[in-house]
Amino acid sequence: MIVETVTTTINPDGTVNCAAMGVEWGDEAIVIKPYRATRTLRNLQRSGAAVVNVTDDILLFTQAALEDPHPPTRPATVVDGAVLADACSWREVAVDAIDATGPRARVTTRVVGRGTGHEFVGFSRACGAVLEASILASRARRLPAYEIRAELARLAVVVDKTAGPRERAAMDCVLTHVRTAIGDG
Ligand SMILES: Cc1cc2nc3c(=O)[nH]c(=O)nc-3n(C[C@H](O)[C@H](O)[C@H](O)COP(=O)(O)O)c2cc1C
Repeated sequence: MIVETVTTTINPDGTVNCAAMGVEWGDEAIVIKPYRATRTLRNLQRSGAAVVNVTDDILLFTQAALEDPHPPTRPATVVDGAVLADACSWREVAVDAIDATGPRARVTTRVVGRGTGHEFVGFSRACGAVLEASILASRARRLPAYEIRAELARLAVVVDKTAGPRERAAMDCVLTHVRTAIGDG
């Protein structure tokens, strides 16, 4: 199963990098699949560690995919890494192997630590819609503009029906990013 996570790694200057990543989830092993150009891949290659965070904060996903977010974190306990202060749960992972031959690497990791934060209450339909919208936005320059606009208009209806303030802020972040990338049309 692919679980959508916010994966943190440590940059060369010691700061925390946050990226939305859909990972192949397992109890003992997790496969992270960063594209070649990502900071996440470079950090994994250098440091050999990450923290895979499960969060119910959809705004954090959007920011982790489209911006350079600096949410509050605290040090992980086993690896040199960062746990999101607001995580529902997390896995600290150590890299076992990296296959970077394709456009998207496969980073096989071993779970070496774990923890739980606050309860995962559940996702609204708006959360699911914002998640899809964020993925579209992160590919905005690679997909046809008409396709992105049509899909975003459909997702915006779902967001309008069920969103709270965080989901609305996340959708605004998506729309701003898309406008910058492909214009208003
Ligand atoms: C829900 C969701 C899942 C994503 N999954 C991945 C993924 O598995 N691999 C990847 O490279 N990018 C994925 N992305 C896009 C990255 O989050 C985005 O490209 C990010 O800028 C990479 O950040 P980095 O360069 O700091 O590592 C995903 C985006 C979203 C919204």
